Amino acid sequence: MAASSSTQTSGRTQVGIVGAGPAGLFLAHLLRRQGIDCVVLESRSRAEIEDTIRAGVLEQWVVDLMNQMGLGDRMMREGHFHSGITLRFNGESHHIDMAGLTGGKRVTVYAQHEVIRDLVAALLEDGGEIVFGVSDVQLHGVESDRPSIAFRRMPDGPLEALRCDYIAGCDGFHGPSRQAIPKSVRNEFQVVYPFGWLGILTEAPPSHPELIYSNHERGFALLSTRSPEVQRLYIQCDPKDDIANWSDDRIWSELHARLEDRDGWTLTEGPVFQKGIIAMRSFVCEPMRHGRLFLAGDAAHIVPPTGAKGLNLAVADVLVLSRALAAFYKSGRTDGLEAYSAVCLRRVWKAERFSWYMTTMLHRNPAETPFEQRVHLADLDYVVSSQAAMTALAENYVGLPMD
Ligand code: FAD
Ligand code: PHB
Repeated sequence: MAASSSTQTSGRTQVGIVGAGPAGLFLAHLLRRQGIDCVVLESRSRAEIEDTIRAGVLEQWVVDLMNQMGLGDRMMREGHFHSGITLRFNGESHHIDMAGLTGGKRVTVYAQHEVIRDLVAALLEDGGEIVFGVSDVQLHGVESDRPSIAFRRMPDGPLEALRCDYIAGCDGFHGPSRQAIPKSVRNEFQVVYPFGWLGILTEAPPSHPELIYSNHERGFALLSTRSPEVQRLYIQCDPKDDIANWSDDRIWSELHARLEDRDGWTLTEGPVFQKGIIAMRSFVCEPMRHGRLFLAGDAAHIVPPTGAKGLNLAVADVLVLSRALAAFYKSGRTDGLEAYSAVCLRRVWKAERFSWYMTTMLHRNPAETPFEQRVHLADLDYVVSSQAAMTALAENYVGLPMD
């Protein structure tokens, strides 16, 4: 089916990209570097996407890619580069020397919204096109060789059609792209966890030189950072809980209880200026391609944040896609496009496994038996006492090789 007959205007591009999250923006940059024309359609405003607080940790190859693309200057100035992380359980701390175990790969903390700001600014400066605030986005003709995206620039404006050779569905878990793949073709896999994360931003100096992941009988807690003045912390909570039930005093008292161990280290408090609760799930949609539609990032898969993999996986998908599209436009080859879903899914399932493993090992699941809870503590004990297990954790955390 071509674009709806009621559309009043139409434009054309080679690749139509739905969504200006990490997947859509990295893809736009990668395509434009290959001389491939694209337009990004985003339902939110520039200010909204630049202010949404989400991920924090970048894998080493993503840092390298940003530098190779000339997009890494601010990240290299303002990011935090840690050589390891700390695991806490049974009241004790254990340092995992990520760099030492992986030949020098580091843990980079640079917030997702800062990456978004850098990518948006560079794309617009370079003449790239992002249409912010679009509504009524519908994908048409993805099974034909003339796909198009219908959308409105203004809520009560005319319906426009963007005709394209290919569509990249980079619109996150709730976007319309995945729904454009018929249900009969989609195979979906999912785990919904019976816990969520309460995350805060606080105006305080760093309490610790690296991230702390803590398994505590009161539930999981994570200490991360944003800048010398702002810290990011999370605690496991009921995903359906109301944030209004969590006073700052209650949050700090849980953080102290779950993060402080027997060695006398203490957490520094500060004013809390942002807080919210997120639910957690693992999800994969197979295949990631249908006709001329390619899903990338959270549109195709979700991981719980414990492994710090979501943003990185989104970038991995679009790197594979940009290479396949470049081969098509340079020499008419379609083998990369045909292989896209299978190539991405191999990495996706390894990240799903790792994120599920970190999540089940580090959280207290009220639905689990005492036997299962002891097994998770044994798993942690094994990780910190076996060089092989520690190396396996480290190589997954800093990012599996891309090629
Ligand atoms: P998104 O970032 O969701 O972007 C999709 C875009 O599409 C959005 O801007 C949305 O507005 C737009 N959109 C939606 N519908 C439409 C429509 N109809 N039309 C047009 N546009 C549309 N990942 C990590 O790698 N490391 C971490 O440390 C980490 N920590 C996290 C912590 C938290 C608390 C959370 C919530 C997530 C974390 N993640 C982490 C996951 C990471 O944030 C996501 O995996 C990442 O944002 C996925 O990028 P994306 O571009 O695929 O999707
Ligand atoms: C973050 O800093 O937001 C962060 C760090 C590590 C994670 C998840 C989120 O695993």
